[in-house]
Amino acid sequence: MTSGDQVAAGGGDEPPDAARVPRLEGAGIAPEMVLRPLAAGDADELRRIHSIEEVTRWWDSPAEGFPFHDEPDATRLVIEVDGAVSGMIQYSEELDPKYRHAGIDVFLDPALRGRGLGTEAVRRVVRHLIDDRGHHRVTIDPAAENRAAIRAYEKVGFRRVGVMRAYERDADGSGWHDGLLLELLATDV
Ligand SMILES: CC(C)(COP(=O)(O)OP(=O)(O)OC[C@H]1O[C@@H](n2cnc3c(N)ncnc32)[C@H](O)[C@@H]1OP(=O)(O)O)[C@@H](O)C(=O)NCCC(=O)NCCS
Repeated sequence: MTSGDQVAAGGGDEPPDAARVPRLEGAGIAPEMVLRPLAAGDADELRRIHSIEEVTRWWDSPAEGFPFHDEPDATRLVIEVDGAVSGMIQYSEELDPKYRHAGIDVFLDPALRGRGLGTEAVRRVVRHLIDDRGHHRVTIDPAAENRAAIRAYEKVGFRRVGVMRAYERDADGSGWHDGLLLELLATDV
């Protein structure tokens, strides 16, 4: 922990090793937004945003242990806008040399949507994955009906691969819905 970190009330939650997680700032684009490692004091606000209906629709309700322990293989960054916790973006890496690639997922506080911030957050993480992590291919797999997310990813440069039928459980657990696989190669951007 750095001296600026706070300890979450109640649970004593700690973020996993934040040392390997970068801090991603814009090169003049959306300077009010910083992507930074999770800190202990972020948990309550991230759970609050994750629990808003516009987010649970696509991300389900926060899992037990969110945001520090529910997906240990994901590298997570807080989306901070004007100094406030405003969302989260994460990536997972397939490190098998034969199939090496990374996948991204993101949510933003609905109060901040439509300003280009989600697109810029994904763009910064894509650049990090290509430039710093050496990936040649990045994927993303929104629900096929998630038009805002698909639009944002296509603005970054992701291309549609195809529909994955009955790919993902509905948020209410009642059935399955289609997913859209998009991919971006380092040579696309
Ligand atoms: C996906 C998400 C991060 C995008 O963030 P954002 O900051 O609103 O995105 P941007 O403003 O950069 O771009 C959104 C684009 O979608 C468009 N859009 C919004 N709603 C839309 C809709 N219903 N249909 C089609 N396009 C839509 C916007 O007009 C904008 O495109 P434009 O710049 O051409 O006008 C945000 O919507 C979010 O957190 N959604 C909930 C969680 C989620 O769906 N996560 C993705 C799971 S894979």
